[in-house]
Amino acid sequence: MNHQLRDYAEMTLAARGLSPRVALVLGSGLNDVADRLTDAVELPFGSVPDMGASSVPGHRGVLLLGRWVGVPVLVFAGRLHYYEGYPWRRVVQPIHIAHELGASILMATNAAGGIRADLAPGDLMAITGHIDATRPNWWQTLAVSNSPYAASLRDILHAAATSLGFSLPVGVYAQLTGPNYETPAEIRAFRTMGADAVGMSTGREIEIAAALGMECAALSCITNKAAGLGEGPIHHAEVIEAGQRVKARLIALLEAVLKCLAERDEPEA
Ligand code: HPA
Repeated sequence: MNHQLRDYAEMTLAARGLSPRVALVLGSGLNDVADRLTDAVELPFGSVPDMGASSVPGHRGVLLLGRWVGVPVLVFAGRLHYYEGYPWRRVVQPIHIAHELGASILMATNAAGGIRADLAPGDLMAITGHIDATRPNWWQTLAVSNSPYAASLRDILHAAATSLGFSLPVGVYAQLTGPNYETPAEIRAFRTMGADAVGMSTGREIEIAAALGMECAALSCITNKAAGLGEGPIHHAEVIEAGQRVKARLIALLEAVLKCLAERDEPEA
């Protein structure tokens, strides 16, 4: 990682007595998590070496350092996508930054199309496993390996959702490269393969984070019925709008999870 950035980040965090425990990589429309943080410092992605500014409407793209319910966090509000023309190395750079700065937990969120019948726009889904369809000939290499999604964090997600009065469905997420939404035929194929939701991020980030030894969780915000399952074509504006609608609940859930984590790792004497 770029030394200037590390020096800057370390200096900034040290000045506040912070070492980030949790990294949050947040998808569309979650920029106002910034309002929840205390002692926050904000860096636009464009000023973070090897990141670059996000070009997708709804993804402002800032790195925030601060505390959320007292927990030191590093928040990537927005992300870079492969479909914007960034190489994978750049897409997963936030994970390397988070790991180098000492975060041991990664929580990622995304917008996704719902494939399973019970997943409707506005729902949240905890990811239990993913299908990485971003690599050439990926269907030939689909490996059955241990899930990189930590069961321990999923338990906390469920407890947090219950404390807020809702239940949290779980499911398998398929990551495709985009930029286009899928065809109805592709969605039928992915449903047959076991995908419950589909999107254009997260899987590759989680793979790197798990390989680096981080404890990982991810949440999909279902913004639309996947192609062929709703009425008419999918529009980006509809995805953004549904993301906005679910935002308050997602932020409340993340906050409740952070409270649980604080209690788990630092139980009161
Ligand atoms: N497909 C892929 N990515 C998405 C979708 C979808 O239907 N909705 C939000 N992101």
